[in-house]
Amino acid sequence: MNTILAVETSCDDTSVSIISDRLIESNIISSQIDHSKLGGVVPEIASRAHQKNIIYIVESALSKSGKSINDLDAIAYTNGPGLLGSLLVGSTFAKSLGYALDVPLISVNHLKAHALSHTINNIEIKYPFISLLVSGGHTQIILVSSYSDMKIIGETRDDAVGEAFDKCAKILGLDYPGGPILDNLSEGGDSKKFPFPDTRVPDFDYSFSGIKTSFLYFIKSELEKNSKFIEQNINDICASIQSKLVSMLINKLILAVNKYDIKDISLCGGVAANSLLRSEMIKISKNKGLHLHIPVPEYCTDNAAMIANYASFMFKEKEFSGLDTIPFSKNIIG
Ligand code: KG4
Ligand code: ZN
Repeated sequence: MNTILAVETSCDDTSVSIISDRLIESNIISSQIDHSKLGGVVPEIASRAHQKNIIYIVESALSKSGKSINDLDAIAYTNGPGLLGSLLVGSTFAKSLGYALDVPLISVNHLKAHALSHTINNIEIKYPFISLLVSGGHTQIILVSSYSDMKIIGETRDDAVGEAFDKCAKILGLDYPGGPILDNLSEGGDSKKFPFPDTRVPDFDYSFSGIKTSFLYFIKSELEKNSKFIEQNINDICASIQSKLVSMLINKLILAVNKYDIKDISLCGGVAANSLLRSEMIKISKNKGLHLHIPVPEYCTDNAAMIANYASFMFKEKEFSGLDTIPFSKNIIG
């Protein structure tokens, strides 16, 4: 039996997971800081919180799994992309632990781990498939040909889609993170009431900054005419902007699926919780005869279980890394 401890500290959540033979034994996720009060993630505060809490989370992941530190066969960690200060805490901790226990280190790409998150707990996969990764930090269309052979074929040129949800929600005076609030407020709203312009971006890439700006100007000009515009139309406004963001995501995904003649698709990242995105993906998959895979919510947002899962594939191939591996922030798959 192979047992791996995995550490994920790419953004604001500190997470540690224990996996044995591709089955998750524990997955502790801790958002220690209330970033909602700060209106977003503050990198320096996030890395300090990782440093403060990582030991406790490791202890709690080990205790929940029933494993001891001496049962570990490897230590995995997120090496990037992410916030550099946060990544440094997790990678330095993992390297020290691996060195002290004299077990191999596995350096995991966060994007690749997301793309395989629907395979957690030994779920079989068919290659090739296309993964739509959507969160507060990512918007990528990834072509997955094998566990190691992945290519970003489309991505945002500016804001991530979760960021667009959060910024539009902020314009409406909603709390952070606004995505789930905007999703709830869309219920029963008329999604066709306020049409927003299309953003034209070549190939399978996205751009969300233009739509956010036109949303801002639209709300400002309506408020000048009627100071109660937001409260009188909140459900229709939310439904309209949500429907625009979701259709932008799905249109490009379908273009990619057609071009690469793909039959399996997956949806991951925090925005995968969006009710309209889920229902539209289910509808389109049915119409087009595609197999849709969505991980359970716990494995959609940032979590160490997906790092542990990806590390299991790497462990099998003895893809170990050295103490000189350096964390990186850029959205690359390599
Ligand atoms: O993966 P995640 O937890 O962490 C980051 O990458 O930051 O994703 C968080 C993002 C936030 O932007 C949040 O607003 C968005 O996911 N989100 C949603 C929904 N639930 C979370 N966006 C739209 N609708 C939702 N239901
Ligand atoms: Zn992520």
